[in-house]
Amino acid sequence: MSRLQNVMIASLRTVLGWVPDRWLPGSRPDALIGRVAAVGRHDVRVDGRAKVTGTARFAAEVAMDRLCYAALVHSTVARGRIARLDTTAAQAAPGVVLVLTHRNMPRLAPPDLIGVSNLSAIGNSSLPVLQDADVRYDGQIVAAVLAETQLQADHAASLVRVDYARADARTRFEQAKADARTPASILIEKNHETKGDADRALAQAAHAVDAVYTTPALNHNAIELHAVTVDWQDDALIVHDATQMVAATAATIARLFGLKKEQVRVFSPFVGGGFGGKGFWDHQIVAVAASKIARRPVRLVLTREGVYRSVGGRSPSEQRVAIGADADGRFTALVHTGYSVMPAYAACPEQFTLGSRVLYRAANVEFLQRHLDLDVVPNTFMRAPGEAIGTFALESAIDELAQAMGLDPIELRRRNEPERHPIHGHPFPQRALTKAYADGAQRFGWTRRAAEPGARRDGEWRIGMGCATGTYPYTRMPGATVRLTLRRDGTATVASSAQEMGMGTATVQIQHAADRLGLTTEAVSFELGDSMLPPAPFAGGSGQTASLLGAVTAAVKELIAELLKLAGNDSPVAGLRADEVQLIDGSVAGIADASRRERFQSLLARAGRDDLTVTATGNLPLEMLRFAMHSYSAIFCELRVSDVTGEVRVDRLLGSFDCGTILNPRTAASQFKGGMIMGLGLALTEETLFDARNGRIMNATLADYHVPSHLDVPEIEVMWTGIPDPRSPLGARGIGEIGITGVAAAVANAVFNATGRRVRELPITLDKLL
Ligand code: MOS
Repeated sequence: MSRLQNVMIASLRTVLGWVPDRWLPGSRPDALIGRVAAVGRHDVRVDGRAKVTGTARFAAEVAMDRLCYAALVHSTVARGRIARLDTTAAQAAPGVVLVLTHRNMPRLAPPDLIGVSNLSAIGNSSLPVLQDADVRYDGQIVAAVLAETQLQADHAASLVRVDYARADARTRFEQAKADARTPASILIEKNHETKGDADRALAQAAHAVDAVYTTPALNHNAIELHAVTVDWQDDALIVHDATQMVAATAATIARLFGLKKEQVRVFSPFVGGGFGGKGFWDHQIVAVAASKIARRPVRLVLTREGVYRSVGGRSPSEQRVAIGADADGRFTALVHTGYSVMPAYAACPEQFTLGSRVLYRAANVEFLQRHLDLDVVPNTFMRAPGEAIGTFALESAIDELAQAMGLDPIELRRRNEPERHPIHGHPFPQRALTKAYADGAQRFGWTRRAAEPGARRDGEWRIGMGCATGTYPYTRMPGATVRLTLRRDGTATVASSAQEMGMGTATVQIQHAADRLGLTTEAVSFELGDSMLPPAPFAGGSGQTASLLGAVTAAVKELIAELLKLAGNDSPVAGLRADEVQLIDGSVAGIADASRRERFQSLLARAGRDDLTVTATGNLPLEMLRFAMHSYSAIFCELRVSDVTGEVRVDRLLGSFDCGTILNPRTAASQFKGGMIMGLGLALTEETLFDARNGRIMNATLADYHVPSHLDVPEIEVMWTGIPDPRSPLGARGIGEIGITGVAAAVANAVFNATGRRVRELPITLDKLL
């Protein structure tokens, strides 16, 4: 996040500009791109049966002898010191095994904060955990109780008496602006980007909008609560964790507790939703420490309230978007600046301006983000951090400009499509946003929209349509490694410490590996969720699938080389080079002369081998710095707003996506729809109510924090261009996060079209429409 990093990234981009194309990923066409085989098929999830029959085992379901249960005590003040801590009653309560506080907690350094320079660092907070009597935010863990049963632990935790000496806390967004920090970079992008003189262009523009949009804090609400089951064995530690970062969790726990990497094994075969929230938090550290002291296995499941108190979510923001356009609607100025909360001890910059840097061409631009320090639970990544709320501001402003100009908002966007990346000029290997709009508009019936707001009505209901663009960058992470075993019986197994959070990780990786290996999907299995397997990067930034695709591709390449070595002189493929063969129908076969082929079975048998194993790491993801690789969507919404109550009912929602190759339409549609439903929550119902007087979250329950329920969600349609991106493995870009982007603006724009009321403050609750 430093100036040095900006210089390094900029130099790398420059150097990559000189690198011959043949050295860059994707320079040679992948024969699998565009081929219809297992990839592209509607395969059902390989773990579907295990999940619906209840045999899939989650972190809080692992049985252990002598297991004891943990309950946490969270601070009830935002800042201060523990003045009195009395654990006598808790210690004397039935079944209590241990009361852990800062007094008896082992002395530990905090984990390294998550960041782009060290991919094994995953800390969400750099604050000490139970190391002293200081309180830094409301909800901080101040004690933990272990007992024979969960009920006993919960009861004993309620008996821990804590009195605080309060100190002044920083809890007000508005006041914190005076001390806003300006980071040098936002993830791998330079923070402050300017081109020309945006202010002057804005002042001279034929048409202009200039408005401020606000978005609230949001909390993670994965159905599965954060949970960890810990077992210290003689000189090893077993951790069953609900995590989207298996390998890095093992490495981090090893570092914290002074163990060798091999001494810690993390299992996480299934995770019930992550969305950025299932990372490394204080509760894992507390559970491991408590188990160590008690010499008992420990299970710690956060309560729902505990998730609100000790796991951060999306940061609140205040964003300014200003756009100037000439008489034809061509942008002369684009400004996107603003504030979000990121305490100095947190690490997620809520990158709300990054999407704006890639969507439109403008002669003059300014992008800048500033961070506010508040004494709050450290914020973190939450599905499309930045883009989810950044597209709300940007795409609302686009709609406002279109309205002011009397232009169709899709046409206004089309007129400002860039040909190259608007900031660093890199080419787009694949970008078909205009087509996504055209296809989506046709399917949705966009021509039925009344240009005049408030023109359509059905009784008490005003009806409106809106649309907006969504976007999310392509990510492939370095270091993704898989082990590939091919057996004489014609089966194969791919193994990597990857994460399954519900998206279908194993399912799509099997589809790819089967095609790459020339086997059926039934013959291929995929092992994941175990830190002893070759390291996968964490599942984040919608990058896991592409990262693993790259590693599997590298492994199959290596496997071919090994097979040819084993083939010897008697094989029909003898003398062929690796690039002259392909794997097809369980055989190694010549590409030019398909009659030269040998079955894996016969080849391995002649070599006297039962199986052949290779381990390989994907090539460096240089394409990310050399090309402008982003996914796009056009979101369409039709809704009704009641004149009587101000209530908004969404009737139709359609997402038209441009995300490269779609590997599995069934799991992809589910990802898109899940993201869009989260977008409805962002638009209409979700809001963490933060009491700025005392720094406390007031609605830490699912009864008070409203995620969309079935009746809030209409039939959702999804479609896609499916055009492969030639620079990514299999032509695929990530799809986990883009679904939520663009939705809030599409809803806000539809509300405007229905009512003539422009709501610039999320969520759009009925009080804002009366
Ligand atoms: Mo995502 S917010 O990187 O899980």
